[in-house]
Amino acid sequence: MNDERTLVITGGAGFIGSHVVRLFVNKYPQYRIINLDKLTYAGNLENLKDIEDKPNYRFVRMDICDFEGVLKLMQEEQVDGIIHLAAESHVDRSIKDPFTFAQTNVMGTLSLLQAAKVYWESLPEKFDGKRFYHISTDEVYGALEMTHPEGIEPPFTTKASSGEHHLAYGEKFFTEDLKYQPHSPYSAAKASSDHFVRAFHDTYGLPTIVTNCSNNYGPYQFPEKLIPLFINNIRHRKPLPVYGKGENVRDWLYVEDHARAIDVIFHKGQVAETYNIGGFNEWKNIDIIKVLINTVDRILGRPEGADMDLITYVTDRAGHDLRYAIDSSKLQKELGWEPSLQFEEGIEKTVRWYLDNQTWLDNVTSGDYQKYYEQMYAGR
Ligand code: NAD
Ligand code: TYD
Repeated sequence: MNDERTLVITGGAGFIGSHVVRLFVNKYPQYRIINLDKLTYAGNLENLKDIEDKPNYRFVRMDICDFEGVLKLMQEEQVDGIIHLAAESHVDRSIKDPFTFAQTNVMGTLSLLQAAKVYWESLPEKFDGKRFYHISTDEVYGALEMTHPEGIEPPFTTKASSGEHHLAYGEKFFTEDLKYQPHSPYSAAKASSDHFVRAFHDTYGLPTIVTNCSNNYGPYQFPEKLIPLFINNIRHRKPLPVYGKGENVRDWLYVEDHARAIDVIFHKGQVAETYNIGGFNEWKNIDIIKVLINTVDRILGRPEGADMDLITYVTDRAGHDLRYAIDSSKLQKELGWEPSLQFEEGIEKTVRWYLDNQTWLDNVTSGDYQKYYEQMYAGR
């Protein structure tokens, strides 16, 4: 599909969105890419410095909940595709402030759906050649049991996992047909938005696709999430707050592999389908934390394991999901996508990136960049 197109990518100033914007702007010079982002605490245009001057890129500061604004933008720019990532994304914040999560993740998604429907229905070709692609999370499926706490070989193979860590902690995996059972306000809001997307397909025929991905890691992730927070803390020898016993399991995927999956699915995925995206790469939190400590210490030339005493067990997260594990074999079989990176490679790259980009970390944690944007966009 090499035609000219105009795409809106929402949440493009965030962690995953910035990788998706970068990939699309560089790979598809014939596309016009509009990054629509409100620039909340999680949005940072520093993430896109390398592509901000490209002729096929435009940034628009807008709230996805602004239905009139989104509709006007779609009409003016003749948008024919939406890749929707904008969301409130941190579980701990959702526990403290569920309203914001319902507002952005549910009402914001509804506003985008309705704007796409109204604009595309007004065109002679209507929904022909259009696409509304909604990015969601595996957390909508709830939590899996840990029937094999010591780990078993999973029934799948993937390039992303090396022998030693290629373990599953139960026989069950999240498949696309699984019932939704969200537990946190974050996952409940994402689940609700997924239902609205499917309802717009089933009711109005809007050409939608939904994908549910496992935990991402890599450069430009806001340092409130486990991996960047802990890398930064290890560097500065600050305590590492491990929730509960550190036994919870997450399935980790390098963010650029997620962006590649989004590219493949946007172009080749079937309308009305759901695809799960994951790396068959399950890790207990405590094991990942030890790898992070060893990697940071090695790169900084500290004695191996010197910082293990930073591990600090703290009160568990309320409603903490025990295990996430994605079965992404449908995507692998039908569209030929596979993760490209071994986990060890991905973690090495990630640790080095955060250690090399201390200024980025300092800027996003100081909040100075937020003040900067407030001034830059004052009155717009
Ligand atoms: P993030 O928090 O890093 O970025 C979110 C972006 O959305 C920010 O740039 C923010 O400014 C923007 N945004 C927030 N509210 C907005 C609003 N009302 N209007 C416009 N823009 C707004 O999130 P992320 O980790 O990059 O996640 C992106 C998407 O991927 C989310 O939908 C998330 O649910 C999903 N997802 C994330 C993961 C993960 O591991 N991070 C895994 C699976 C799925
Ligand atoms: P997080 O990165 O917040 O992603 P999610 O909750 O979406 O999976 O957390 C990953 C795991 O790490 C999760 O099981 C919670 C745990 N965790 C801690 O133990 N300590 C922390 O400080 C954070 C942020 C997370």
